[in-house]
Amino acid sequence: MAGRSVSAQETNKAIENKVKNLLSQMTLEEKIGQMTQVDFTVIGIPKEQNAEDQIDPAKLEDAVLKHHVGSILNTPFTPDNKAQSIEIWRKLTRTVQDAAARTRLKIPVIYGIDAIHGATYTQNSVLFPQAINMAATFNPELAFKEGEITAREVRASGQQWNFSTVMDIGRQPLWPRLWETFGEDVHLATVMGTSYIKGHQGDDFSAADKAPTCLKHYVGYSYPLNGKDRTPAWIGERMLREYFLPTFEAGVKAGSPTVMVNSAEVDGIPGHANYHYLTTILRGELGFKGFTVSDWEDIKRLYTRDKMAASEKEAVKIAVMAGVDMSMVPFDFSFYDLLVELVKSGEVPMSRIDEAVSRILTVKYQAGLFEPKPLLPIDGNFATAEAIETNRHAARESIVLAKNDHNILPLKKDASILVTGPTANLLSVLNGGWTITWQGLAEDLYPQEKLTVLEAIQEKSGGKVTYIGGDSFDAPIDIQKVVDEAKNHDVILLGLGEHPYTETVGNIESLNLDQAQVDLANAAIATGKPVVLLTLGGRPRIITSIAERVSGVILGFLPGMEGGEAIADILYGDYNPNGKLPISYPRNTNGITPYDYKPMESFEANIYNPLYPFGHGLSYTTFETSGLKVEKDKINIGENINVTVSVKNTGALKGKESVLLYINDVAASVTRPNKQLKAFKKVELNPGQAESLSFTLTPHDLSFIGVDLKRIVEPGDFKVMVGNEIVGFTVTK
Ligand code: BGC
Repeated sequence: MAGRSVSAQETNKAIENKVKNLLSQMTLEEKIGQMTQVDFTVIGIPKEQNAEDQIDPAKLEDAVLKHHVGSILNTPFTPDNKAQSIEIWRKLTRTVQDAAARTRLKIPVIYGIDAIHGATYTQNSVLFPQAINMAATFNPELAFKEGEITAREVRASGQQWNFSTVMDIGRQPLWPRLWETFGEDVHLATVMGTSYIKGHQGDDFSAADKAPTCLKHYVGYSYPLNGKDRTPAWIGERMLREYFLPTFEAGVKAGSPTVMVNSAEVDGIPGHANYHYLTTILRGELGFKGFTVSDWEDIKRLYTRDKMAASEKEAVKIAVMAGVDMSMVPFDFSFYDLLVELVKSGEVPMSRIDEAVSRILTVKYQAGLFEPKPLLPIDGNFATAEAIETNRHAARESIVLAKNDHNILPLKKDASILVTGPTANLLSVLNGGWTITWQGLAEDLYPQEKLTVLEAIQEKSGGKVTYIGGDSFDAPIDIQKVVDEAKNHDVILLGLGEHPYTETVGNIESLNLDQAQVDLANAAIATGKPVVLLTLGGRPRIITSIAERVSGVILGFLPGMEGGEAIADILYGDYNPNGKLPISYPRNTNGITPYDYKPMESFEANIYNPLYPFGHGLSYTTFETSGLKVEKDKINIGENINVTVSVKNTGALKGKESVLLYINDVAASVTRPNKQLKAFKKVELNPGQAESLSFTLTPHDLSFIGVDLKRIVEPGDFKVMVGNEIVGFTVTK
C-alpha cells in the first residue's frame, strides 16, 4: 500500500510538472480552446448529404486547429443522431485525434459521450438496466460490473469520457429523469454510484479498458418543485447538504475527475452561476480537483433563458467566474470568442483561465490521452457472451414482484396466456431514453435478436400464447377482442406503462396513466380471468385501482436489453425475483412522500401511505430476520457500533434477499427522519438456510446537518431497525 501511494504521489507530481510546462507554452486562444466543448455537428457534414464519411475535414480543421477545442461530444447526426457501428466510431475518433496531433502543442481532444446504461451510441453494445433498476438490485457488485463493461465498450468505441453517473437523488417522481437516478435514498445511491465509478475507472483510468466518469448534475437538479425538467428547485442549504450533496461528495472521493453542472436553478441561482456551490463547496469543502463541465448550452441560457446576464458575454463571465471550467457550448465558437475578449479586457483574470485549463489538462494526462494506447480489439471486448450474461443477471435482479395473490406466479409452463397492452411487445419500453437515440424511441433501430416480453414468453411457454396489441406504443388496442379472447385463456398478462423519453421531452402534467390504458385494464379485469399487471417505464405511474384488483403485479421499470427475457424468467419461475423498490411507489398523484419522512408527515391526519413502500419486493420463497442485536448499549460520540442480525430462508425455494438496516435518532436539534437506510447486504440462501450478518455503524451514519449547517452527532438515544425488530443504544458525550 505504502509503495503504491508513493508512486501515486510521484505520478501526481509528474503530471503537475507536465501541466505547468505545457501551460507556459500556450497562447490565450489555445487555453480558451481547451475550455470549449462542441457537438459533433460542428465538425460534421450536414445530415441531408448522408455522407459516408461523416466528418467534414474543413470543419474539423476549423474546430481543432483554428479554435483549439478541447473536447467534442455526441453521436453523429446522420441521419438522425443515432448509434453508429463500432467500426465507424473507431474511425471517427481516430480522425479527431489525428487532427489534434497536427496542432502546435499536440494536445489531445477528449471525446465525451452519454453512455449512461452501456455504450448508448454504439450499435449492439450491452445496454444495462437503467439506474433506477440497478438500484432495485441492491447489489453493488452488479453496478461495479456495469461500470467495467461500459468503460470497456466505450473505449473499444474510441470514446474517452462518459457523462455518467447520475448522482442526483430521485425524490420527485414526476421528474422525467427519475429513472436516471438510483432512487430516493442517499445511502443506496451512494453505494451504487460509487461502485459503478470504481468499476468504470479501476485504480487507474488511463488503462486501455477504463475511462473517466462524470458526476452529474451538480447539484439539486433532481428536485424541481413542479416536477418539470429544468425548472426551479427550492432546497435550503441544510436539506441540500443532507440529501443532495452526499452522493457527489462520495463520487469525488471515489475518484471521479469531472462534474457536470445542474442545468436548472436552486433557490433562485442557476447552477451555472452558483459560486457558492461550484467553488466554495465543491472545491473548498469536497476537495474536488478535477474539472467542471457545463450542461448543454447552459452558459448561454444564463442570458437567453434565465435573464441573469444582460448579454451572452456577461453570461460567459458569470459562469467562468462561478467555477465552470469547460463549456458545452455546443454548436458554435461564441464561448471561445467572448472569453478571449473578456480576458483581453481584463474582465476575467488570466489566473482563472490558467486554473481551469490546468484542471482540464490534468485529467487528460490522468486519462493517458497524451500517450494513447492502441484501441482494445473489438473481439473479446465488445458485446461478449459473458457481458450479455451479466446484463441478463442484472435485469433479473432489477425487477420487483410487488403483488402475488394466491401465488398466481410463477405461471405454469403450459398455462394458456393472453398478452396485451402497449408495453408487451416493444424493446424500446424496456430500455427507455439514451438508447440508440437520445429519446430511445426508434423501435426499428433496436437489435432484432433481442426479445420483447411477448417474444420471451412465446419462447418459454409450452401453452397457447395470444397477443392483442399494436406495433407501436400508441396503437389503439381492440378492447372487445381482448374481452372475447380472454375466455380461451387461463391468465391475462397486461403490459402497461410509459413509452421512452429523455429530459424535458418527458415532462408530464400528472402521474396518472392515460385513459386508454385504464380502459384496457378495466376491461381485462372485468373478464374475471386472473390478470398479472406488468409495468414498464421510467416513473411510477399511478396504478392503484388496477393493482388492487389484479392478482399479480410486476414493476419492471427499465430493465434494459435483456429485460424481456428476465421478465419471462420471473413469470415462469425460472428465476426467483429479488428486486426491491428504490423509491416509494405513490398511491395517488400527490402522494409523493419519501420513506424517510419527518415525524410530522405521519402525525395526526398525516400518514405515509404509498401503494408500495421503499424496499418492498416479494420472492417466491419467504425470508425472516431475527435476533437483531447491538454490540453495546452505550457508545461514546465518535465510536463505531456493531449490529448483528440473522436472516433465514423460511420457504421452499432458493432465493436472494436484501437485508436493509435503518436507524432513527430519537430526539435531535433538527427534526430527524422516522428512519434512514444506513446499511444493506444481499445474501443467497437455500431453503432452511440461515446466515448471520454483521454491520458497522460509523459516526457518519449517526450524524446529520445541524443548526449551523455543519455535520454533527448529538448524544442521545438511537434506534436500529431491521425487518420487524427494533433495538436501541445510547450515544454519550
Ligand atoms: C443532459 C446531460 C447530458 C448532456 C450531453 C444534457 O442535455 O442534461 O445529462 O450529459 O446533455 O448530452
